[in-house]
Amino acid sequence: MAAVTYELIKTCKQSGARLGRVHTPHGTFETPIFMPVGTLATVKTMSPEDLYDMNAQIILSNTYHLWLRPGHDIVKEAGGLHKFMNWDRPILTDSGGFQVFSLSALRKIEEEGVHFRNHMSGEKLFLSPEGAMDIQNALGSDIMMAFDECPPYPAEYDYMKKSVERTSRWAERCLSAHKRPEDQGLFGIVQGGEYEELRKQSAKDLVSMDFPGYAVGGLSVGEPKDVMNRVLEFTTPWLPDDKARYLMGVGSPDSLIDGAIRGIDMFDCVLPTRIARNGTCMTSEGRLVVRNAKFARDFRPLDENCDCHVCQNYSRAYIRHLIKCDETFGFRLTTYHNLYFLLNLMEQVRQAIRDDRLLDFREEFFEQYGFNKP
Ligand code: GUN
Ligand code: ZN
Repeated sequence: MAAVTYELIKTCKQSGARLGRVHTPHGTFETPIFMPVGTLATVKTMSPEDLYDMNAQIILSNTYHLWLRPGHDIVKEAGGLHKFMNWDRPILTDSGGFQVFSLSALRKIEEEGVHFRNHMSGEKLFLSPEGAMDIQNALGSDIMMAFDECPPYPAEYDYMKKSVERTSRWAERCLSAHKRPEDQGLFGIVQGGEYEELRKQSAKDLVSMDFPGYAVGGLSVGEPKDVMNRVLEFTTPWLPDDKARYLMGVGSPDSLIDGAIRGIDMFDCVLPTRIARNGTCMTSEGRLVVRNAKFARDFRPLDENCDCHVCQNYSRAYIRHLIKCDETFGFRLTTYHNLYFLLNLMEQVRQAIRDDRLLDFREEFFEQYGFNKP
């Protein structure tokens, strides 16, 4: 039995979205799902107890960051990432491919791997498919990601074609280097930018290697929303129905719904946690910048339609005060609410799939959130 398997429960008759379950060595989660990001073995400001409390089912962490600090050898010595951070539900780790491209200057891509500089110290580093597998095997995540190249948007067709072919060769090397297939699942990452032909080629290459799941990478890199939707529409049909599909780096409420409608099962993004630390909240009526002066005497909750414990107990005025004073507790409150909001949104998406009404739900949600306003 593979370490990670996908079980399709039903397809929404109205939208084609999938309701499913992913089984991992640390338990099962229902899809479509949003995965909070815990880059440095912590979802910033949240304890694992907070995350259990809001019913987070799986979190994401980063190979690149944990390799540099504290070092994967230390995490391994602690008994693996789950034990190190005291989280006993599933963990997915990104491969470092994307972080190398987004964080470090002076990178040089070769067939063997990528030369680049440590984004903090400037020290010279090298990461390869084998290196990324070795680190993720040491971390012991339930789902590991293949080491890929995430090209910028836009990129020329000829560059993208070479990149996709290299990402496929790197995926083969990842499969060969993976040392724990019995208790860690390795997902392949489809690239190809906005080019239909290349997305198809990438998907076919990876599907022939038979990964237990597939990600769609190279999106949410500055392309317009309709480009992302179109890419998903011509990419997911090449992916097998009996494997999980993960859209990397996407976490705005509209994109989660639009991704699910196009057959995506898993999402992750720093957006809810990052904007929370900047005093911005996601609410059922759109974004609310709670640090604004107009909330100084507003004693209502962040979101009057939210039943999270923050909205049950704390006011906009109080949270604004904390954030204006740089009090850590303020960031905890906005982070908790934002994550709860997205997890709850995904529960509503799953319910709409059960009820075969995800397109109706999309209309209702967009109307209230303010996307339909001119
Ligand atoms: N996170 C967001 N996009 C990507 C991508 O294309 N590749 C990887 N490895 N991680 C990502
Ligand atoms: Zn709330």
